[in-house]
Amino acid sequence: MKIIALLGTPHGLKGSTAKLLNLVLEGAEKSGAEHETVVLKGDNVKPCLGCDVCHKKGACAQKDDFEEIKGKIINADALLLASPNYIFSVSAQFKAFMDRCCSVVHKLEFEGKYGASIVTSGGGDEEPIAEYMNHFLIITGATPIGSVWATMGTLPDGEFPPDLKQQAHDLGKSLVDAIQTKPEPDPAVLKQMNAFKDRMKNLMQWRKAEWPHEYEYWQKNRNLE
Ligand SMILES: Cc1cc2nc3c(=O)[nH]c(=O)nc-3n(C[C@H](O)[C@H](O)[C@H](O)COP(=O)(O)O)c2cc1C
Repeated sequence: MKIIALLGTPHGLKGSTAKLLNLVLEGAEKSGAEHETVVLKGDNVKPCLGCDVCHKKGACAQKDDFEEIKGKIINADALLLASPNYIFSVSAQFKAFMDRCCSVVHKLEFEGKYGASIVTSGGGDEEPIAEYMNHFLIITGATPIGSVWATMGTLPDGEFPPDLKQQAHDLGKSLVDAIQTKPEPDPAVLKQMNAFKDRMKNLMQWRKAEWPHEYEYWQKNRNLE
């Protein structure tokens, strides 16, 4: 059982988001999962160039760590997404990774995996960001099982209160449970997943001439005519 955690902050493993992520990973580890954290500091996964090469050929034209990280996720069972609140959204470092997943999204390439999201902020507004990150999981094909967040400005000593620590541990444990028991997504999430899959199927039929790699992926993996 392997979990890949993506941590999108220039503070890397020394920051507040890493501290909260590590509690989730601790919970997962206690339940028997292995894990690896990939730090996105802005230099290893650069912004998308909008060149469409990934749609046409299946891999990004840019020479950085994106393809290797994507491969790690494809070979893992679950994905943890962790970002600080940067102006009411994920960090630019994290968003760059999301944008580079455009072809992953068209192919729903993380289908069958489970995931969860982690957010920290100075002053609040984490919930819509966690929802956005979990929506990203849905459109890559993965099933989100929850999220946890912390408002650092309310914690003067920087220490998480015991109930938050417990929540983070429990999220890690729930992720491992999901990997093991493979539950169906809840009906609302399943509806979103199915609607998005139909949308991508239509997109593939529309763009089959321009994006042969993605069309062939759908033909091979999803019996697209
Ligand atoms: C560029 C930037 C933008 C930020 N925007 C917000 C914000 O809109 N709201 C907020 O509450 N905190 C904001 N913060 C504070 C961070 O979310 C907070 O310090 C977070 O815990 C940092 O996590 P890290 O140590 O893992 O990088 C911002 C910080 C930076 C550097």
